[in-house]
Amino acid sequence: MSKSDEFSRAREEHRQLGEEIAAHDRAYYQNDAPVVSDAEYDSLRRRYEALEAQFPELAGEDSLSKKVGAAPAEKFAKITHAVPMLSLGNIFSDDELEDFVARVKRFLGLSAEAEVAFTAEPKIDGLSCSLRYENGLLVSAATRGDGLVGEDVTANVRTIADIPHRLAGATPQILDVRGEVYMGHADFAALNARQAAAEKPLFANPRNAAAGSLRQLDAKVTASRPLRFFAYAWGATEPRPPADTQLGVVEAFGAYGFTVNPLTVLCRSAAAMLAHFRDIEGRRASLGYDIDGVVYKVNELALQQRLGFVSRAPRWAVAHKFPAEKATSVLRGIEIQVGRTGVLTPVARLDPVTVGGVVVSNATLHNEDEIARKDIRIGDTVIVQRAGDVIPQILGVVAEKRPADAKPYTMPDVCPACGSAALREIDPKTGEADVARRCTGALVCPAQAVEKLRHFCSRNAFDIEGLGDKQIAFFFERGLIKTPADIFTLQERDSKSLTRIENFDGFGKVSTRKLFDAIEAQREIVLNRFIFALGIRHVGETNAIRLARSFETFEALREVARQAAPDSEARKRINDIDGIGEVVAEAVADFFTEPHNEQALDALLAEVRIVPMEAVKSDSPVAGKTVVFTGALQKMTRDEAKAMAERLGAKVSSSISKKTDLLVAGADAGSKLAKARELGVETIDEDGWLKLVGAEQA
Ligand code: IVH
Repeated sequence: MSKSDEFSRAREEHRQLGEEIAAHDRAYYQNDAPVVSDAEYDSLRRRYEALEAQFPELAGEDSLSKKVGAAPAEKFAKITHAVPMLSLGNIFSDDELEDFVARVKRFLGLSAEAEVAFTAEPKIDGLSCSLRYENGLLVSAATRGDGLVGEDVTANVRTIADIPHRLAGATPQILDVRGEVYMGHADFAALNARQAAAEKPLFANPRNAAAGSLRQLDAKVTASRPLRFFAYAWGATEPRPPADTQLGVVEAFGAYGFTVNPLTVLCRSAAAMLAHFRDIEGRRASLGYDIDGVVYKVNELALQQRLGFVSRAPRWAVAHKFPAEKATSVLRGIEIQVGRTGVLTPVARLDPVTVGGVVVSNATLHNEDEIARKDIRIGDTVIVQRAGDVIPQILGVVAEKRPADAKPYTMPDVCPACGSAALREIDPKTGEADVARRCTGALVCPAQAVEKLRHFCSRNAFDIEGLGDKQIAFFFERGLIKTPADIFTLQERDSKSLTRIENFDGFGKVSTRKLFDAIEAQREIVLNRFIFALGIRHVGETNAIRLARSFETFEALREVARQAAPDSEARKRINDIDGIGEVVAEAVADFFTEPHNEQALDALLAEVRIVPMEAVKSDSPVAGKTVVFTGALQKMTRDEAKAMAERLGAKVSSSISKKTDLLVAGADAGSKLAKARELGVETIDEDGWLKLVGAEQA
């Protein structure tokens, strides 16, 4: 390529980059809504500057490298900074830090061994502001704007508690104090909670919240937002600052009444700076406010003076940024993960991207409503965020980068792990679908198997001793127990197997024998326990009893539930059972109509014998009575107590009324006890109840 071709290509790239960077600046500074990660922005900026370094002709008057930030938004009055507000150069690595220190020394004509002191302090992730004090009184305040002209935010700044209206002690006649307006994590969370309650849009992060709060035309709004301020630099001062070091001036700011960052230290070598950087990085999560790096500044003001500036940044300071915790990447596909409770979670498959120093290629999309709300499509460039050890998530889409063939996503309505129907529950009160889509294949889904088997063997279900969480996971991983029926065929299969269980690590002849005996002992099971053991959503012990009592046999329940389509007679039959509502009826229908469960159920029924529940004793002292339990019960759980009462023919209610026949009050019973007394309802304690129903309790 000829020299002139090369130049015209570079000029075109420089022009395009300039437009792109300017658009990002507007999004960031004026709309408080950045669309690319800092890392991506920085790389655009670096490329832009590299082109100018190669072809200095490109760095003309309108070059972005001559500007800081963006022109002020129109809605505010403008303030021209007496001394321009500059930006900082960025570095990202240990090597770049060494280079920075070496460059400073070289510029000052010092040897590499000479000692230069630097301050090191957190880089606050907020927005910078210049506060003008005349004779100790705050007269005006401006945002950075484009570095030369900012926005007049005086009225708003006056509402910030950290910013004194009058300085303490003797101060320069004219003093521009500069620093960062920011919002703490707790305040940010509370603000977003208030926004959500008022159905207003949420802020993406504390910096945007701080910027949005400061740049309010109505200072009353700013006043209601908990903004804070750290002082760390200055502009015009008359006379000069009352100290000859960076640290000294900032300490004077503290004495005037400003908050200065307590994590500021003096370092005398690149190694010490690096150590401080690591220290701050380690504390980052616990500071209570966002920081995005560490700023180093030459401490001696005389040296700062000599070093001066290059285009938009001082030579005597630099920002050492933490690895970006947000980045952009392309969404290549969405896969579904089935959790152990059967919830389907969409997971983004991304082009690998480094986020916060870690390579990320998967991120959670939470649920289908989130995907729709953020309008995320396959092929989109998305913003990925990683916070601490939390699973990376997708914040949103870079709309400008959407390709024409980006594909909207539809959640599958079958479980990818087992092929059973995957449904969203409808809240009968609101008519709204639950955010989670769940697999209904409780008996067959491998993703849920361990969890369901654990439930199946638990104390109030099949109660199989020796089949605890560990053993179930062990047998499942070896493929020996996949569905409940496998538990009951384990012994027979084992007897024909070449690798006997008794030879496995952690088993042995005796414990294997015990396990098989425990399984054999539980082949016979009462109907309500059997129903409970199936792990049907919303069917706990109490509902299992209700179903068992109402249907009397498992065949009867199964027959009806299989036909229980919405609005059918069969659905109504289940729904009409006292204590069972639409949500439970729907869950029962979903379970029994899922064909994948059929086979597993048949296999299980071939292994076990279900016996009917004890007939309800109509001669029990509480038969036909309405009983309420309240307070803390000591000898049984609330569910057990309810089940017992229902077995004895009582109706259990949760509230006291004139129709209540009996209140059973446990420890610390409160308002229900008072109401029962008021209504003259008979009241007994837990022991009284056990005596009444004649239960023998351990
Ligand atoms: S000193 C001439 N110190 O970072 C030096 N800036 O990327 C002026 N910032 O515009 C800046 N914390 O908004 C300095 N401790 C700190 C800072 C800090 C945050 C911001 C400030 C500045 C930007 C440059």
